Amino acid sequence: MTSERVAVESAKGVNGLEKIILRETRGSSAEVYLYGGHVTSWKNEHGEELLFVSSKALFKPPKAIRGGIPLCFPQFSNLGPLEQHGFARNKFWSIDTDPPAFPTNSSSKAHIDLILKPSEEDMKIWPHSYEFRLRVALGPGGDLMLTSRIRNTNSDGKPFTFTFAYHTYFSVSDISEVRVEGLETHDYLDNLQNRERFTEQGDAITFEGEVDKIYLSTPTKIAIMDHEKKRTFVLRKDGLPDAVVWNPWDKKAKAMADFGDDEYKHVLCVEAAAIEKPITLKPVVNLILRESSRVAEDPLLWSLYVQVS
Ligand code: BG6
Repeated sequence: MTSERVAVESAKGVNGLEKIILRETRGSSAEVYLYGGHVTSWKNEHGEELLFVSSKALFKPPKAIRGGIPLCFPQFSNLGPLEQHGFARNKFWSIDTDPPAFPTNSSSKAHIDLILKPSEEDMKIWPHSYEFRLRVALGPGGDLMLTSRIRNTNSDGKPFTFTFAYHTYFSVSDISEVRVEGLETHDYLDNLQNRERFTEQGDAITFEGEVDKIYLSTPTKIAIMDHEKKRTFVLRKDGLPDAVVWNPWDKKAKAMADFGDDEYKHVLCVEAAAIEKPITLKPVVNLILRESSRVAEDPLLWSLYVQVS
């Protein structure tokens, strides 16, 4: 008898936090915590973990989970009045039981739709009403796709503005053996030098120390080559012009309570983002009509698609 893999399953994760497990028929899988709408695991068909999660990650609200793919919304970093990287990564999301038609990746059975809406308490911190829908999908080849759809549901007609990032922590064998292609010759803001603007020189990017850069107006495709593992991640992003590259290196690693001292060697964050030009959303025009005209009303999508080979 052949036992069929369950494409979508709900389970208890660390500290009893609810998580969703996605499984694709050829063996790849992903895990998404409702806490943060946070992808914490992505494995290929051989069961090898492709994302980094710190052995010291806390899984304890309100601290964001250290690793995987935190969502930075509605503020990247400390570039505004809100807490660092915004609040989406430390809110409890719900399963969206009535998701709108997503134009992409709808053929995949292994997907989950989550939704985040503000509570009254939340609106004291950021006085806007919104619906943030996130679809996490595993494709037939084990590729991972995250699609975000955010709508402004303010009833007072006010637009809102936000910055955004999929803060992807990739697992790498040895950071000094890793190369990133696609960002060379692009301008970046260096977070380690008061966000001063520079132009990346030379060839592919390699790593010899702490890096914290926001590359601007980058191509849709970026590749991360892990020579030791003979593995390449190819990121494709849509609606997200910027790309953050971050590795804390040894000193900053030691200063983070939820990060192992030597773990910096095995991680590289390459984050698809919209930072330099914040996104402004006007409210949906007619809320009463929204159920029948939802797709046409909010055509804006921000997506990240990662393939590994
Ligand atoms: C990166 C930022 O995106 O996230 C870094 O560019 C920051 O400056 C890092 O240190 C981690 O942030 P946090 O809030 O998760 O510790």
